[in-house]
Amino acid sequence: GTGKFFVGGNWKCNGTKDSITKLVSDLNSSKLEPDVDVVVAPPFVYLDLVKNSLTDRIELSSQNSWVGKGGAFTGEISVEQLKDIGAKWVILGHSERRHIIGEENEFIGKKAAYALSEGLGVIACIGELLEEREAGKTFDPLSFADAVPSWDNIVIAYEPVWAIGTGKVATPQQAQEVHVAVRDWLKNNVSAEVASKTRIIYGGSVNGGNSTELAKQEDIDGFLVGGASLKGPEFATIVNSVT
Ligand code: G3H
Repeated sequence: GTGKFFVGGNWKCNGTKDSITKLVSDLNSSKLEPDVDVVVAPPFVYLDLVKNSLTDRIELSSQNSWVGKGGAFTGEISVEQLKDIGAKWVILGHSERRHIIGEENEFIGKKAAYALSEGLGVIACIGELLEEREAGKTFDPLSFADAVPSWDNIVIAYEPVWAIGTGKVATPQQAQEVHVAVRDWLKNNVSAEVASKTRIIYGGSVNGGNSTELAKQEDIDGFLVGGASLKGPEFATIVNSVT
């Protein structure tokens, strides 16, 4: 793999004060391999609760951010506010935001550029629909790449949409193949240095039983975990599958 293994837990729109308090306490008492970046992304309303109770060993991410400076944007949360409560990362371009909420590449690119310019790390998600895979298309070129001021703070999450929340994990070979294609794309469209340094993580039905095989692949530099990140011990197992 490339760089330090990176495992993110995307809690999506799940949890209550009770369940999140329990999850935080399970995470606080779990043993995590030292050489892994570990990040969790709770729903906005619980970010502060998690920040104040979770071990500093685990960094905080939000699941979205507003495209620019805050102001009269009802219902939005700004990058400045996220930094203020101690978030280090933001997940942008998740397939649920693209396909359910209708966010498009250009908007996602602007969000990424703004978050990066303000010093927030970006977990940038890409991934194909089943019909795109069947048509031989596995990932959209990173069309936000032109808007990115620096690649130092970006992790790319490849999440095939057909594998998200379905229990149908990509095979290690399928994931490896796309990760190589993404790295080649970075090499040809950004630079060889960025291609070799940028972490490309896999997401889509990762669990405690399949993470070890996936982690063995040369170009899988970590995971973005949904459902299994809601269980502390299983999430720890995934973090510890680093090879
Ligand atoms: O962000 C996480 C992905 O959408 C994967 O979700 O692990 O529940 O399939 P999942």
